[in-house]
Amino acid sequence: MTRAISLRNVTKMYGRNVRAVDRFTLDISPGEFVVLLGPSGCGKSTVLRMIAGLEDITDGELLLDGEPVDDLAPGERDMAMVFQNFALYPSMTNRDNIGFPLRMENSGDDPRARVEATARMLGIEDILDRYPSQLSGGERQRVAMGRAVSRRPSCFLMDEPLSNLDAKLRNHLRAEIARLTRELGVTTVYVTHDQAEAMSLGDRVAIMRGGVLQQVSTPRDVYAVPENIFVAAFIGTPRINLLEATVHAPLDGRMSIDLRRQRLPLPEPLSPDHQLLRIQQGRRIVVGLRSEAVRIATPAEARPGEVPISGLVEHMEYQGHEALVHFNTGSRPAVVADLEAPRPVAVPRRRRRAPGAGVLSRWLEPAGSRAAGGSASDRVMGPVVAVDEPEPYVWERSGAGGPAAGASDLVVRTSPDVQLQRGAQVPLLVDLAHLYVFDVEGRRICPAPSVVPGLDV
Ligand SMILES: Nc1ncnc2c1ncn2[C@@H]1O[C@H](COP(=O)(O)OP(=O)(O)OP(=O)(O)O)[C@@H](O)[C@H]1O
Ligand SMILES: [Mg+2]
Repeated sequence: MTRAISLRNVTKMYGRNVRAVDRFTLDISPGEFVVLLGPSGCGKSTVLRMIAGLEDITDGELLLDGEPVDDLAPGERDMAMVFQNFALYPSMTNRDNIGFPLRMENSGDDPRARVEATARMLGIEDILDRYPSQLSGGERQRVAMGRAVSRRPSCFLMDEPLSNLDAKLRNHLRAEIARLTRELGVTTVYVTHDQAEAMSLGDRVAIMRGGVLQQVSTPRDVYAVPENIFVAAFIGTPRINLLEATVHAPLDGRMSIDLRRQRLPLPEPLSPDHQLLRIQQGRRIVVGLRSEAVRIATPAEARPGEVPISGLVEHMEYQGHEALVHFNTGSRPAVVADLEAPRPVAVPRRRRRAPGAGVLSRWLEPAGSRAAGGSASDRVMGPVVAVDEPEPYVWERSGAGGPAAGASDLVVRTSPDVQLQRGAQVPLLVDLAHLYVFDVEGRRICPAPSVVPGLDV
């Protein structure tokens, strides 16, 4: 049996000040695989633990198959949890470890047959008679998975079950988890802060920030139609290029997006996606370009919908199957706070703001510090005053003047065969069909929310 899990406006407070989860609403269908994704401290484990019954909910409703579960103890919820640090009983063989929940359950079935079947499914038949201390990390992980699976629970709750493993083993077990959960058809909620893992496993991905659900969509949609700048920046490697910009809308001319040194002219007549930009005239916006939305080519090679800019080659990263070219285009990168480090959730209701910073709070960031790995949050929490509402998004500018020499602001994906000299000025084409624009609140305004089918905004 597999179950539906619903969270309706669920809030979790730890004490009076820590709002770990804030009005979280999510409906998970029977048999669905949902991944909770977000930076450290955003409340993922707390959501999972509330579903398991290991934490009380402070406010809101939690339903299993449409029934409130407040009175169900963890043991009565028929869920199996797998954690990052599995606790196997060291004095029991692996066979007994896997069979342990079955013996506790005493369901009448032959536990031995069930253990054998589970071990076959996980490919660990050969190690059943060893002890946990005689296993590699990956084998131990599978035994623990076996213990969760053998009971045939109605839900799996997994909290970063692979994060202690090396990359290769992680990828391998990731594929096994995908196969296993599909085979069993059991509702699964899986927590990770690794976006690649989330994208490869989830039927849907739920992205959280500071206790608040930002978006829940298929992996394809969270990448292609991120609802806000945080989701856009959290999903995708290399990270989406985010550039500060303004809309230039002359009365008698073509509208364009001003990227400081260069302009992206918009096609006339404006597409429905670009219509909303008109009302942003004169305001600051942030342009988002994924590394595949720009290609190295001359203006003469432009296809419909592509507009030319140019960039100075700063450096190249070879990745084997592709290369990433870092350009300086003379624009100013915008940085989303919270991606580098967790938001301090102790003060989420009263965001602090620099005096006189205006609606869009800005903090000066030394040029190049993003590349140097500086934490956004360190800088965000400068000398500040309290405001009543949280700033949804904070981004920062890279120095008061123009771009620093040596700072790259645009990463472009190319074939690994491309040879470019550092310092060369290279023609680029930007594909306007893959242009994202975010307003000062961090909301996506382009593509326009209303023209994206199936997206509820
Ligand atoms: N028992 C507790 N008492 C007080 N605060 C807590 C408690 N448990 C968690 N928190 C706080 O609640 C917030 C959410 O924690 P949670 O463990 O859910 O985050 P997470 O998204 O799982 O992070 P990570 O990726 O680091 O595991 C954090 O700021 C954390 O410090
Ligand atoms: Mg956690």
